[in-house]
Amino acid sequence: MYDLSAVSSDLSSILSVCADSSFPLAVSRAQSFSEKHQLPFVLDEHGELASASFSNKKKSNCKVPESLINPPPYILYYQGHSVSILQTEKGAPGPVSASFLGGKTEHRRQFGGGKGQLIAKAVGLNNGVVPEVLDASAGLGRDAFVLASLGCKLMLLERSPVIAELLSCALEEARDTAIDEIIARMQLTQVNSSEWLEQQEFAVADVIYLDPMYPHREKSSLVKKEMRLFQVLVGEDFDDAELLSAALKKARYRVVVKRPRKGLAIEGATPSYQLTGKSCRYDIYSIKSLAGLKSEAVCGKNK
Ligand SMILES: C[S@@+](CC[C@H](N)C(=O)[O-])C[C@H]1O[C@@H](n2cnc3c(N)ncnc32)[C@H](O)[C@@H]1O
Repeated sequence: MYDLSAVSSDLSSILSVCADSSFPLAVSRAQSFSEKHQLPFVLDEHGELASASFSNKKKSNCKVPESLINPPPYILYYQGHSVSILQTEKGAPGPVSASFLGGKTEHRRQFGGGKGQLIAKAVGLNNGVVPEVLDASAGLGRDAFVLASLGCKLMLLERSPVIAELLSCALEEARDTAIDEIIARMQLTQVNSSEWLEQQEFAVADVIYLDPMYPHREKSSLVKKEMRLFQVLVGEDFDDAELLSAALKKARYRVVVKRPRKGLAIEGATPSYQLTGKSCRYDIYSIKSLAGLKSEAVCGKNK
């Protein structure tokens, strides 16, 4: 049994990379990732592992290939254009991946409430402006996608190579589809945002958006499967105060922080105001009024 209570600094003890042998491009991408990050690589002959895992979405019930004699609890699995994390332990939840095609994402894009959504108000979209946003804790890109589908241009930064790989593949998968125009507004870089922000000389975006991991104290069954996975692979973001401080120096108009509804604000600066919804809250740190952005846009048009 593996100890998953703490994040392993050595991911190779809990995560292997695997690819369906029927997809040569996926195999070569998986091999490069495993070499770059020194993770074990296993070839899945004819997608046996995938058919076992994806057939039952609720429980992983993985039948791992024989080459994986002592399977690690997590497998980064490449098949076609998609990449998922499979969880192999008995009773573990099903695969986790990032995807902008279909399902809940598509439903939210069409019926989610547009600029009336709390996240849209938090970044200022309801003020008649369309700010450029830096999402400095991109995760699986869901929040960023909502903002991009409302017209914002987004720079996404994510420090975990594994999470960035899931997101990067989801962005690639969505290119040249009906949502290509939205995806073209999202640009991902794998980097530690605090360090990157500190290196920048000038402001980098109108709004910097942060959604660092919050310590979850609920029993694991109450925490969504994605969050459980994040807790293991990414851990808690103990350096969120540093990230907020770096963001406040490099945002032109505001920094927005997503928090649990009743969670504490990040240590340091006090939020200018908060927007509280049913499941989460946005702490807004105003630097200057977004009205300035509106007049800049008008001046730009008149040039
Ligand atoms: C709760 S998740 C974000 C979820 C995201 N908002 C979404 O909609 O999918 C937090 C993510 O922030 C990333 N993160 C936290 N601090 C970071 C930093 N300093 N630089 C880059 N990424 C960071 C973590 O690795 C993790 O993937």
